Amino acid sequence: MVRQFYPLGGLRAAPTGRYAPGGTAELARLDSLAEGGGLPAADRRRRRRGRGGVGEELLEGGRDGHGLGGRGGGGRDLDARPGGPALAVRTHGGKIPPVQEVPVFDHDAVLAAVSPAEAIDRVRAAFVRHAEGEWVMPSKVYVEAPPHGDFRAMPARGEGLAVLKWVTSFPRNAERGLPAVAGALLASSAETGAMLAILDCGAATSLRTGAAAAVSARALAREEARSVGVIGCGVNGVWAARCLAAAGYGPGVCSDPRAEAAERLASEMDWRVGSREEAVAQDVVVTVTPGAEPVVLASDLRPGQHVAALGADVAGKSEVELEALARCRLFCDDWAQASAGGELSRAVAEGRVRSEEVGELGAVLTGRTAGRSDVAEVTLFDSTGLAIQDLGIAVAVLDAWRAGRVEPSALVPL
Ligand SMILES: NC(=O)c1ccc[n+]([C@@H]2O[C@H](COP(=O)([O-])OP(=O)(O)OC[C@H]3O[C@@H](n4cnc5c(N)ncnc54)[C@H](O)[C@@H]3O)[C@@H](O)[C@H]2O)c1
Repeated sequence: MVRQFYPLGGLRAAPTGRYAPGGTAELARLDSLAEGGGLPAADRRRRRRGRGGVGEELLEGGRDGHGLGGRGGGGRDLDARPGGPALAVRTHGGKIPPVQEVPVFDHDAVLAAVSPAEAIDRVRAAFVRHAEGEWVMPSKVYVEAPPHGDFRAMPARGEGLAVLKWVTSFPRNAERGLPAVAGALLASSAETGAMLAILDCGAATSLRTGAAAAVSARALAREEARSVGVIGCGVNGVWAARCLAAAGYGPGVCSDPRAEAAERLASEMDWRVGSREEAVAQDVVVTVTPGAEPVVLASDLRPGQHVAALGADVAGKSEVELEALARCRLFCDDWAQASAGGELSRAVAEGRVRSEEVGELGAVLTGRTAGRSDVAEVTLFDSTGLAIQDLGIAVAVLDAWRAGRVEPSALVPL
């Protein structure tokens, strides 16, 4: 069964190979459906080669100009890569409608497809496109799962794709040795509605979350800002550090009550481990904790700093003291989302922060809203995580596949 490729904590390929054809169902060209035939035996053998076979054969399909979609209209509906060949389709003796096979990009495939530097470019572009009204993003829907955490459904459309991320935030999972963030990012064609790909959402989330911190720093930090303080060195703190480094920031101070997490990150980045007080004193401070307690106090702030507050992405979480917020020039990813369930939400509910006092990052990037006004200002970016960021990563993964730089880790029949 293909579904055995989905262990707890993210999409990862089975140890025996990145793709294992399931069952006895026959893979066929769509055009051969009409003729009642399947793939030639040689094609079936090639398809069963496992690792490496899938992407390669789809690329071969691209070379012959028809791909697995053949000449039929249905083939065009199943075209996964813009301008590329169609997805594989299973038939059941030609009597039951074909079953579409959708490429899965697991954790490693997503990370192989998109570097931190590219994630920064894609996420920046996503903010710009959304601010310009080209990309659409309905509100995120939360499904509470007390006392463990919550699920989020995050849709967006743009660049010919529609995505839905179904993702968790289970903050105490680290205590159980499980990731706080798990789920899947589904990508469909906005032209035909066809499902195009399933991406591991942990990898996509980490890339786009870290990238947002870097985009905010480039847009809002002082020109001379270099040093980084990372408070919370878990999964997404690590990617924030990697993306900030890719954006030219560093060296940094890594702080986490789990000494091993701080040490691992410091060693990877060639930065150093430090106390919260040391981390919060750096030029660019990124907070990526579960948001159970404030880690940035008003007394910590120094003129000219930039704070990227990433951890509080739902109502009830907070990493920054209210008095500290009052000392900052405030920015967010999306006012509707941040005011309802971000770092700013408590201050908004208490009437301490009003919408006109908070700039959206996309508006800053497009020049519609002013960014930092002087070198002494402390800027704070409240990131709640947007579906447009995930869309930016999904587009990048599909582009990498089209360019032959990455292959799916599996095909799943749907
Ligand atoms: N804004 C976004 O787009 C976005 C995206 C993903 C996750 N998040 C949120 O970020 C938070 C962290 O997510 P994660 O996946 O990295 O979780 P994680 O469990 O992997 O990492 C959290 C880290 O914070 C550390 N920590 C806890 N309390 C701390 C404190 N007082 N000071 C310093 N470090 C502390 C933990 O030891 C752990 O290493 C969660 O609340 C999650 O919901 C936000």
